[in-house]
Amino acid sequence: MKVVVIGGTGLIGSKLVTKLGEHGHEAVPAAPDTGVNTITKEGLPEALEGAAVVVDVSNSPSFDEAAVVEFFGTSTTNLLECAAKAGVGHYVALSVVGTEQLSNSGYFRGRPSRSG
Ligand SMILES: NC(=O)c1ccc[n+]([C@@H]2O[C@H](COP(=O)([O-])OP(=O)(O)OC[C@H]3O[C@@H](n4cnc5c(N)ncnc54)[C@H](OP(=O)(O)O)[C@@H]3O)[C@@H](O)[C@H]2O)c1
Repeated sequence: MKVVVIGGTGLIGSKLVTKLGEHGHEAVPAAPDTGVNTITKEGLPEALEGAAVVVDVSNSPSFDEAAVVEFFGTSTTNLLECAAKAGVGHYVALSVVGTEQLSNSGYFRGRPSRSG
């Protein structure tokens, strides 16, 4: 099964790509370094072609409050739109436990409160 890992070159993503490969899946690491950018959509439709699952373990390059809210909002919107167009059946996002209780942090306000 083809699984696209957004942020697949990062701390968590690179481990996930390895694990998925060990389980016999075609794990595709997607990040700016591999030509896929969820902010500009560069390479995104191509990467999602034929994928059964997309896992989002990307992170904002800046933790500045406005930048992080903008990053996760734009990235998630673009990803969901392109995944729906590509017919991807499952979208999994890694957030952080308890984000809804830490509303004074821009980083946590930017994160989705639940995965789905
Ligand atoms: N690390 C933890 O302990 C921890 C705990 C709980 C939750 N999380 C959550 O897990 C997620 C991943 O964390 P991490 O520590 O693995 O992050 P990380 O090491 O900083 O990796 C972030 C990944 O996102 C990619 N990325 C950045 N901008 C992108 C864009 N515009 N389009 C596509 N990919 C982009 C990066 O690619 P480049 O390197 O090419 O920029 C990199 O592959 C975060 O959302 C974080 O909130 C992390």
